Amino acid sequence: MEYCLMDNTHVGQIAKLEMLCFSDPWSENSISSELGNPLSLWVVAMDGECLAGYVGSQSVMGWADMMNLAVHPDYRRMGVAENLIQQLICRLKEKEVTCLTLEVRASNTPAISLYNKLDFVEVGRRPGYYHNPKEDALILRKEWTV
Ligand SMILES: CC(C)(COP(=O)(O)OP(=O)(O)OC[C@H]1O[C@@H](n2cnc3c(N)ncnc32)[C@H](O)[C@@H]1OP(=O)(O)O)[C@@H](O)C(=O)NCCC(=O)NCCS
Repeated sequence: MEYCLMDNTHVGQIAKLEMLCFSDPWSENSISSELGNPLSLWVVAMDGECLAGYVGSQSVMGWADMMNLAVHPDYRRMGVAENLIQQLICRLKEKEVTCLTLEVRASNTPAISLYNKLDFVEVGRRPGYYHNPKEDALILRKEWTV
């Protein structure tokens, strides 16, 4: 598996995986616009020409938000998400970011287990944050020193 920064050859496969995984997927245009955003950092996992997963973030003044993370069902439970987040954190450290925050559906046990394994801690809750279906978001955060 190769982990690298997103470029425009990845956008179509990311949009398809968004549709497969989420009820409110990002459009191809929205994903593409991240390529021109200096605040954005997206890492993809590639198995040859095939996209296994991706993680997207934006950062300002040393604080980053993880906006989306997905691994294709054919590649789950192989450590791809864990590697994606580790790779993202390595690259954020190079930008002197020291903190990564994310929201996750309160019922998303696989993702919450992943974040717990990587030492994210719960710092808050947003009632009714998600729609389709309506659900609370847990706010999780991981901090480090550079
Ligand atoms: C959540 C998701 C990204 C995990 O991807 P993955 O590549 O399968 O995860 P990994 O193989 O790196 O798993 C790392 C750890 O996460 C936890 N984990 C992952 N999937 C899990 C599952 N289905 N059930 C319980 N724990 C799980 C485990 O602790 C696992 O470590 P282990 O294998 O040593 O037990 C993937 O299931 C996915 O894409 N889900 C749909 C999209 C989504 O929910 N994204 C997150 C939005 S906040």
